[in-house]
Amino acid sequence: MDSLLEEILASYDERAALQSARTIPAAWYVHSGIAALERERVFGRTWQVVARADQLKDAGQFVTAELAGEPLLIVRGSDGQLRGFYNVCRHHAAAVATEAHGTANIFRCPYHGWSYGLDGSLKGAPEFEGVCDFDRSQNGLVPLRVETWEQFVFANLDLNAVPLAEFLGALVKRVAPLNIGSLHFFERRTYTLNCNWKVFVDNYLDGGYHVPHLHKELNSVLDYRQYTIDGEDRYCLQSSPMVSSDEDANVAATRTGDRAWYFWQYPNFMINIYRGYMDTNLVLPDSVDRCKVIFDFYFDDVSDAAAECNRQSIAVGERVNDEDVGICEAVQRGLGSRAYHAGRLSVRREAGEHLFHRLLAADLKRVP
Ligand code: FES
Ligand SMILES: [Fe+2]
Repeated sequence: MDSLLEEILASYDERAALQSARTIPAAWYVHSGIAALERERVFGRTWQVVARADQLKDAGQFVTAELAGEPLLIVRGSDGQLRGFYNVCRHHAAAVATEAHGTANIFRCPYHGWSYGLDGSLKGAPEFEGVCDFDRSQNGLVPLRVETWEQFVFANLDLNAVPLAEFLGALVKRVAPLNIGSLHFFERRTYTLNCNWKVFVDNYLDGGYHVPHLHKELNSVLDYRQYTIDGEDRYCLQSSPMVSSDEDANVAATRTGDRAWYFWQYPNFMINIYRGYMDTNLVLPDSVDRCKVIFDFYFDDVSDAAAECNRQSIAVGERVNDEDVGICEAVQRGLGSRAYHAGRLSVRREAGEHLFHRLLAADLKRVP
């Protein structure tokens, strides 16, 4: 590691208590060396959402994905087992599966026609007679770890990582009573933001601090003063009682229930729940100053009769997100300014960000 990068890492003190803490320094959001280190030590080692369980219910169903720059293939085998592989042909490295998702009995590489079973084993290699020291059984797709929790399929590139349940920790028991298994996927929206992925996560984790200022309509249905922030293991739950409001009819009609539940799981996955509603946000770095956020919307009723109402609900979410995008991009510009080094944290509001920064620092500073 070069000495500048070491200096940048050392300039954050993860031992400081919230009252004394500073945010991670601006350089962590603008230096490409940090982005490269995150790819290796954060995205290359943590459990990452790569698919929805409903895409992989039946034998032969598959999804392709990218994780930390690696092309992946996740597939349900004929034996019912879910498996993950690097989507890289053992012959000359072409992508074996080229669709985003689908159903297959066999994967045939489009380059020279090598074929692989749903279990990754090499089934056929045309015109390969006479090749010395070539063992077909040693030339299957390279496996990786996959596990499922609730509706979400996770993959991990680190063969030594702790099991998914251990990684998720207390999140599992906090989410269980909310019965999110009864909600069904409806639609996906993907946004590209001109900011580092951590700016979006920080914005999410500020304990509602920005809600009265930036999201006036959303604020009308939340009881801001009663907003709670709980962090444990690798998750943070922000929750607020709901109040009735006639400020905005669409918000009032689509954001209902007794409480709003906003879960974040380190490093980059959020689950937002209202009555009969859930959206998930997966934040993926593109480069040091660009990220993609994938929103998946779920509803209890996804029938045709409910479609219009569900679309209105998504429109409310999009409006809130538009407000967040504008501010996140402004923050990224500010982080690049010589006028800014690091910020302080509200003790009442910003414990979630503090947890995020400490978990991140621990991963980045861990000697491999
Ligand atoms: S690269 Fe796949 S068959 Fe040649
Ligand atoms: Fe927001």
